[in-house]
Amino acid sequence: SEPVAVTLSVNGETHSVEIPPSATLLDVLRERLHLTGSKKGCDQGQCGACTVLVDGRRVNSCLQLAVMNDGREITTIEGLGRPEELHPLQAAFVAHDAFQCGYCTPGQICSAVGMLDEGHAHGPEEIRELMSGNLCRCGAYTNIVEAIEEVRS
Ligand code: FES
Repeated sequence: SEPVAVTLSVNGETHSVEIPPSATLLDVLRERLHLTGSKKGCDQGQCGACTVLVDGRRVNSCLQLAVMNDGREITTIEGLGRPEELHPLQAAFVAHDAFQCGYCTPGQICSAVGMLDEGHAHGPEEIRELMSGNLCRCGAYTNIVEAIEEVRS
């Protein structure tokens, strides 16, 4: 089908792109905007590696059509911190060794930012439950929860 014109606001910058109506937000972020921090694990909404924030709420960008996000504020891992000024959650993940291979980490951190903003991460078990949409194949869950707890408190 015909490409459609979409305006995406990503990390405070506006991008006008022409894309197939069926393009996912994840593919547009990675392939058109070259924001490759968001990862494609399953491409089916099951692993959370593609998590970004849309108007402050965490979403699996592989399940979103990019056209549905016209005009919304999208934040990816690239928008949360910079190498010289990490977001507090990024710094906590480093301090707590909350990753091994790192593939799931951008999604874990975007998801944790959204979860903390939701305001009901009251303890390790609840954090684990609320983060259950973000899988870590290396099994770094204990350290991930510790990192999030440090920032929460
Ligand atoms: Fe989107 Fe796995 S790539 S949930």
